[in-house]
Amino acid sequence: MSKTIIVANRLPVKIQESNNEYHLIPSEGGLATGLGSVYKKGDNVWIGWPGQVIEDDKQEQIADRLHDLSLIPVYLTRDDVSEFYEGFSNDVLWPVFHYYASTYTTYKPSNWDYYQSVNEKFKEVVLANAEPGDTIWIHDYQLLLLPSLIRKERPDVAIGFFLHIPFPSHEMFRLIPWRKELLEGMLGADLIGFHTFDDVRHFLSSVTRILPTPVSSNVVTCGERSIVIESFPMGIDAEKYASLTQQPAVQQQAEEIRDIFKNNQLILSIDRLDYSKGILQRLQALELLLEEHPEYIGNITLYMLVVPSRDSVPQYMHLRDQIDKKVGNINARYRTINWTPISYYYRSFPIETIAALYSAANVCLVNPMRDGMNLVSKEYVATRTNNDGVLILSEMAGASHELIDALIINPNNVVQVKDAIIEALNMPLKEQQQRMKQMRALVTKFNINHWVALFMERLNEVKLMQRSMQ
Ligand code: G6P
Repeated sequence: MSKTIIVANRLPVKIQESNNEYHLIPSEGGLATGLGSVYKKGDNVWIGWPGQVIEDDKQEQIADRLHDLSLIPVYLTRDDVSEFYEGFSNDVLWPVFHYYASTYTTYKPSNWDYYQSVNEKFKEVVLANAEPGDTIWIHDYQLLLLPSLIRKERPDVAIGFFLHIPFPSHEMFRLIPWRKELLEGMLGADLIGFHTFDDVRHFLSSVTRILPTPVSSNVVTCGERSIVIESFPMGIDAEKYASLTQQPAVQQQAEEIRDIFKNNQLILSIDRLDYSKGILQRLQALELLLEEHPEYIGNITLYMLVVPSRDSVPQYMHLRDQIDKKVGNINARYRTINWTPISYYYRSFPIETIAALYSAANVCLVNPMRDGMNLVSKEYVATRTNNDGVLILSEMAGASHELIDALIINPNNVVQVKDAIIEALNMPLKEQQQRMKQMRALVTKFNINHWVALFMERLNEVKLMQRSMQ
């Protein structure tokens, strides 16, 4: 029976070592959480890095454990991690694709060499596991070269590629010295998916300007092959989030949270540690609110979860220090004997606690400076089974194209963010319900299963179209 092979830099679980024992824990980020249930179907498998450097003598034992979960590891060395993952992926591609490149960005040729060699490593593992008739679905910016590497060896195989982060305008993308090779790498796929139509436009404009390749509408022609470029806004497992809120343990936890903050309205934010998430700007908006409106002192709490991420990359380490400092300043300036404005956590939480927080929060504040989609906004909506609560959402997140009933803000406009928080805190229940109902219907209908089915159907159609043209 043919299967789908999901390939992403990270597996949906990561290995942690303690007391000479290996434990498997869930990975962070939208990709792993969003696709977590899909690879478990049928004979499907997921190929990726288990998140740790594993010594040679332990690799087989770990591969066996992962195999039972339909996971296949790609092992990276310390140099791979530092040059491919921290260097090229997260110090070149991530900042450029999120519009953070500056003239000081260094484009180290050795980072690029490792980016190529690690993509080759992934290719070897994919080829060793791919059987005739299988579909290969490659994900995200760490593996932009992989579609072409596989295509060269298996010209007929069906390859889908999906980018989970924004594709930047040509003016940004052209800064990368290896822009041509990156585009050629992606064009090894048959179908290339992005979250939004803007990403599609930007990609097609880069292809037209950088490559000598004909583009007509959303089809790029490479030699004999036609490659389709389309937007597929990613959904979540909405049913899972809705049913989590019905679990007695989750309900009890939500009750406890409400009890602790009983005199306060709760504003929730949940992000991975990342400069693209607007964490410092959010703190500035709260500071402004407390400064201008002392009537809120003692009455609101920002409950802020920041999930540790990439903290070996210098910008991330620096950001963490800045957040610590800013939270410390605001809390020291405004706290009272029995109230603290910000409850800040720098750690991961189990999904049940996250669901309890979503249920307990009056407002969810999602203000990234740039975000491919942002699944937190959709998760909050999915848990609001009573249709109350207010979502504040950045117009720079892909989700803002769908969740138009949120309070939409420009994250650079701190005054507007502050005003939106005030509007959310005072929104009449009827208006909350009108907005939330619309958003919940959308998140429930266009869920993760719908997204996967749509992408796979389209990939099949593209393959049929290519064959009919031969
Ligand atoms: C984002 C990216 C994913 C990545 C995740 C976590 O969601 O789109 O590709 O896996 O962040 O980042 P990390 O560097 O820890 O894998």
